[in-house]
Amino acid sequence: MTTYICNVCGEAYLGEGKPKTCPFCGAREAFIKEGKEAEPVVVVKGEISELTRKNLHETLQLEIDAYAIYLCIAAKADSYEINRMYKRLAMVELEHATICTKILGIEMPEIGPKLCGDTVLENFQKTLDLEDNAANLYARFAREAVERHVKIMFTALNQVEIDHIELIKKYL
Ligand SMILES: [Fe+2]
Ligand SMILES: [Fe+2]
Repeated sequence: MTTYICNVCGEAYLGEGKPKTCPFCGAREAFIKEGKEAEPVVVVKGEISELTRKNLHETLQLEIDAYAIYLCIAAKADSYEINRMYKRLAMVELEHATICTKILGIEMPEIGPKLCGDTVLENFQKTLDLEDNAANLYARFAREAVERHVKIMFTALNQVEIDHIELIKKYL
């Protein structure tokens, strides 16, 4: 077994070979490194620009909202599979929120419940809208970032949200 570290969320994966995506934040394989080679963006110290700070706060709110909405959707799911899939999506979005708090050096804000639709189809559509909006925003935030580690983080998150869209589309 080997210790792999995700360069995005900084969490360790213990296993035989790299996972295709980080089990915690969903970052693709290229961001997962063998322990000693890892340089997680969440441990980088240093000043961040005003624009980056604003973009990270916007991301934090978006991720917290997605987390709460996905928990609502999980509770209304009509199968065990969909329930677990949304529970996992919720945890991935919470990990994204955690990454933002670490780079910003702030505590996680209180997370209140959120509403979602009553039908599975409605909620799949809601998910696609959320993920599409997030993916587009993170592509822009990646371009705008002047800090290398923030650019890496938004590039990774953009890909994760695109992967979520692919996942949901398989159910439509
Ligand atoms: Fe990760
Ligand atoms: Fe996310």
